[in-house]
Amino acid sequence: MSQHLLLPLAILAISPIPGAFQDSALSPTQKEPEDLDCGRPEPSARIMGGSDSQPGTWPWQVSLHQGGGHICGGSLIAPSWVLSAAHCFVTNGTLEPAAEWSVVLGVHSQDGPLDGAHVRAVAAILVPDNYSGVESGADVALISSLVLPTDPLPLPWVLQEVELRVLGEAACQCLYSRPGPFNLTFQLLPGMLCAGYPEGRRDTCQGDSGGPLVCKEGGRWFQAGITSFGFGCGRRNRPGVFTAVAPYEAWIREQVLGSEPGPAFPTQSPELQSGLPEPTDENCTIALPECGKAPRPGAWPWEAQVLVPGSRPCYGALVSESWVLAPASCFPGRISSDLPPRDLDNWRVMLPSRPRAERVARLVPHENASWDDASNLALLQLRAPVNLSVAPRPVCLPHPEHYFLPGSRCRLARWGHTEPVPGAGSLLEAELLGVWWCHCLYGRQGESVPPPGEPPLAICPAYQEEEVAGRCWNYSHWSLLCREEGTWFLAGIRDLPSDCLRPRAFYPLQTHGPWISHVTRGAYLEDQLAWDWGPEGEETETQTCPPHTEHGACGLRPEPALTGGLWPWLAEVHVAGERVCTGILVAPGWVLAATHCILRLGSTTVPYIEVYLGRAGASPLPQSHQVSRLVISIRLPRHLGLRPPLALLELSSRVEPSPSALPICLHPGGTPLGASCWVLGWKDPQDRVPVAAAVSILTPRLCHCLYQGILPPGTLCVLYAEGQEDRCEVTSAPPLLCQTEEGSWVLVGMAIRGSRDLFAAIGPEETWISQTVGEAHFLHPSGFPHWLPEGGDLCPPDMARASGSPRAALFLLLLTLLIQG
Ligand SMILES: *[C@@H]1O[C@H](CO)[C@@H](O)[C@H](O)[C@H]1NC(C)=O
Ligand SMILES: *[C@@H]1O[C@H](CO)[C@@H](O)[C@H](O)[C@H]1NC(C)=O
Ligand SMILES: *[C@@H]1O[C@H](CO)[C@@H](O)[C@H](O)[C@H]1NC(C)=O
Ligand SMILES: *[C@@H]1O[C@H](CO)[C@@H](O)[C@H](O)[C@H]1NC(C)=O
Ligand SMILES: *[C@@H]1O[C@H](CO)[C@@H](O)[C@H](O)[C@H]1NC(C)=O
Ligand SMILES: *[C@@H]1O[C@H](CO)[C@@H](O)[C@H](O)[C@H]1NC(C)=O
Ligand SMILES: *[C@@H]1O[C@H](CO)[C@@H](O)[C@H](O)[C@H]1NC(C)=O
Repeated sequence: MSQHLLLPLAILAISPIPGAFQDSALSPTQKEPEDLDCGRPEPSARIMGGSDSQPGTWPWQVSLHQGGGHICGGSLIAPSWVLSAAHCFVTNGTLEPAAEWSVVLGVHSQDGPLDGAHVRAVAAILVPDNYSGVESGADVALISSLVLPTDPLPLPWVLQEVELRVLGEAACQCLYSRPGPFNLTFQLLPGMLCAGYPEGRRDTCQGDSGGPLVCKEGGRWFQAGITSFGFGCGRRNRPGVFTAVAPYEAWIREQVLGSEPGPAFPTQSPELQSGLPEPTDENCTIALPECGKAPRPGAWPWEAQVLVPGSRPCYGALVSESWVLAPASCFPGRISSDLPPRDLDNWRVMLPSRPRAERVARLVPHENASWDDASNLALLQLRAPVNLSVAPRPVCLPHPEHYFLPGSRCRLARWGHTEPVPGAGSLLEAELLGVWWCHCLYGRQGESVPPPGEPPLAICPAYQEEEVAGRCWNYSHWSLLCREEGTWFLAGIRDLPSDCLRPRAFYPLQTHGPWISHVTRGAYLEDQLAWDWGPEGEETETQTCPPHTEHGACGLRPEPALTGGLWPWLAEVHVAGERVCTGILVAPGWVLAATHCILRLGSTTVPYIEVYLGRAGASPLPQSHQVSRLVISIRLPRHLGLRPPLALLELSSRVEPSPSALPICLHPGGTPLGASCWVLGWKDPQDRVPVAAAVSILTPRLCHCLYQGILPPGTLCVLYAEGQEDRCEVTSAPPLLCQTEEGSWVLVGMAIRGSRDLFAAIGPEETWISQTVGEAHFLHPSGFPHWLPEGGDLCPPDMARASGSPRAALFLLLLTLLIQG
């Protein structure tokens, strides 16, 4: 994971966007004291936070072409010599042939006159013998060129310039020693030079490589560095890395020996030559995110209200000094046309703590907004940038590879034309689900889960206890803000259809980072701030979702490390305030339990029953994950006479699926083939810590023989693994469940009164359960029937129950059957 972030800037091909920069917002270049700052002019569509240069300002700037396209920058240091970066010309350890390259001089823009442009063939490319890769230094190259006739070339960019501050070696190393994107640090080597700003945002990027870093001293420009590489572009605490020119003076002189005139190395002040004054200690100021700080959740300093004459206010978010992000669907009819909206003059944007409404200069809809819901975005440029302070302040935007950690604290925020929701506030809290859960609970069936680090298809919040009768979220639109180390990120936009529930799945915003950064050239794209996974945390990469039933996901069990119930279907059924039975959530509004535990013999009244979910975990879950419901009716199958073993409890309202409360799948009958099975219970009825005892389910024949004649039809027998018999107590009537080969957890039976080994099978009751509970998740039938027709002669006489212990009896029985067979 660590290698691919080291971006040799020009190895990735530049993909210029024609015309994109003709009318973009240009952030004003802030002048710094001249002796500390260096202008770094570059032919690149990618310089970040820079501005168009004036034609003729940087006469030494050249563009190096291969195959007719710009690959790298360079600087003319003598009439036939160009200085650039070695990595532009070395591929896979081999120097590329000079004949493939050409030098283009004097070009400012494709739109400007090309009269001044000269193209020259390259005669030779020289690279230091010991150059081995950008990260080892010596990233310098000399190109000797021959003059050729002018040949106009399409150059789709305007020469960019950006002012950078040269950072002292210690200060730069100090920044690079702080974990950055992907928890990466980097050791600077002698001969490397850093320039940029701790807060990032102004930087070089792909396509700038080889270009000069020039500093002005005493009215003259000196080249201090050659653009070498960076960690991403414009990232906080990750300034650009340059090859320092001074240490290569001797090498350069040696190569160009005999050229007349040669390059000039006039005496510089010692200060400049040594890489500028720098602090002698290793302290440095780490830049913290300037975005995403809110005084308290809900008081969002980036909340922008876009007012368009004739329509309702549209909520969006401030993403930089001059840009607001909002849903494109707020501006119908204005996004399909290439022309700016005619009434743009009358549009206004309200921002927190601003006395007056802002005026709008430009509307830039996402090119796919009209057909792709995930791209329902538009950027609005304000006529004048706003001063950022406590409010307004922009929200942070995620880079494409941002991975919001499961369990992140998130909030819903207004987005687009939203309807007010009664009693919002605390209801808007959420916690992020893992990618796997998100995908399996809400994603499409059978699809593989995108690995963390790639943009996920959906990002899902899990809410605290959901149900508040009468509140319907049908027509409300929300964005999802997630917090990392106190900083809020805009993580997702626009809910997917969610019926009357709170929004379930959001489109991740991170995929739009490049578009936003391209249009705004200064939005606050911020690196991931929270890291807490190791290699084992990324196992979800290869996981696929267990098969769904027609009613959706069932039987998913979260990893122990994640928040949420370890056994999300395990319910505590509190009966009449005097005992607790095990219940199993079989559908959002139904719990299955053993009749003998719920209804005591001889009692004629229906007891008062409460059901708790989200309590079952190795460590207690936060209160907020617990769900409680009253039982409003008890249903028993009629066909089994007075005391059927299974009871269905109808809950007062639904429990929406989440990692702490999720229905189990139901087994339709037959032995679950290839499954591992457990009896799930509590160690003791008081503290109710769940324990699972491994068992094998005996074949119907063995079971029948072992308990010859005494078992009611539909009874399953189990054999405990060595030493597991006494793991859970039996008075609460524990369930028998299995995990199928596909990974789903299925309920197979419920304990029969007073027994550890006998369970009432679910399968024979499929019709009754399905008729009572429409959403019960029965899996497709598989395996053998459990109960063979009566056939006593299958069993050897007198062998069953020959001894007190079922294990001993079983052993004898197996032995007999083997001998007979
Ligand atoms: C790089 O070199 C290695 C070994 O010399 C070779 O296997 C590989 O295919 C080369 N890669 C490219 C992109 O040329
Ligand atoms: C390459 O050689 C030069 C001169 O011997 C030396 O100063 C420099 O540190 C070397 N660079 C690398 C990357 O080995
Ligand atoms: C670095 O900063 C710390 C804390 O501000 C200070 O105690 C220490 O003296 C500084 N180091 C140097 C070398 O000045
Ligand atoms: C628009 O959609 C096309 C096709 O899916 C895609 O290639 C392109 O990158 C999208 N544009 C943006 C800005 O995301
Ligand atoms: C923004 O801040 C600058 C300097 O702090 C100040 O000169 C300017 O008047 C402010 N602009 C507005 C619109 O408040
Ligand atoms: C919300 O949507 C659900 C499902 O589509 C529908 O049953 C319900 O009536 C809607 N509620 C309102 C208030 O429109
Ligand atoms: C980040 O890297 C450091 C040093 O390699 C390591 O000790 C630390 O555990 C890493 N942190 C995470 C969250 O991976």
